[in-house]
Amino acid sequence: MKKNSVILSLLCCFIMAAVVFAAEQNKGAEGIVIKGGSQGDITFPHQQHQVSLKDDCKVCHDLFPQEPGSIEKYKAEKKLKKKQVMNTSCLKCHRENKKQGVKTGPTSCGQCHNK
Ligand code: HEC
Ligand code: HEC
Ligand code: HEC
Repeated sequence: MKKNSVILSLLCCFIMAAVVFAAEQNKGAEGIVIKGGSQGDITFPHQQHQVSLKDDCKVCHDLFPQEPGSIEKYKAEKKLKKKQVMNTSCLKCHRENKKQGVKTGPTSCGQCHNK
């Protein structure tokens, strides 16, 4: 009986580690290139945002799913307007932070778009 419970608790450890590992894996790429139309693509530091937003994924992913290319896909399906993510998420947050004088990201075109 005792041996069984040792094996059982070891098994639990492995399963928990696997779950934690899977959660880590699901956080997406560290950096992502987002298509930016005529202004040029955007190099987006994904992981850095997860850290500074304390892993609150919904801040951005309320607008589009956690899948590669989901913004483009949603734009094509008209679930998102052109520049909607840029204006209602990226720029909105960066500008609000700037006003409050806290750490923030770029607010001018050329600092995001690599033309
Ligand atoms: C500041 C905005 C923002 C936050 C916060 C954010 N993401 Fe993302 N995420 C993005 C963008 C932008 C993309 C790229 C979408 C695309 O390719 O069209 C993306 C893509 C992804 C992908 C797709 C896979 C990949 O590597 O391309 C995964 C998975 C993902 N995010 C997971 C997460 C998780 C988990 C969190 C929270 C811990 C999170 N994201 C927080 C903006 C964000
Ligand atoms: C904080 C980063 C950031 C800044 C600053 C920024 N953009 Fe963007 N822009 C994006 C992102 C991300 C996208 C893609 C998502 C979207 O369309 O909302 C985008 C998309 C675009 C598109 C393509 C829309 C389409 O679907 O064809 C244009 C055009 C554009 N931006 C123009 C501008 C101009 C002009 C400025 C300066 C006034 C600017 N952007 C500043 C991040 C930024
Ligand atoms: C809710 C707030 C918030 C949203 C939404 C957000 N950002 Fe940021 N962004 C930040 C903050 C805060 C920083 C500064 C982070 C730091 O230095 O740790 C930052 C920094 C950046 C930087 C500069 C990174 C560097 O190392 O200089 C880029 C580029 C950037 N953001 C692009 C984007 C794009 C593109 C989007 C939309 C897809 C976006 N951000 C959405 C808050 C936000």
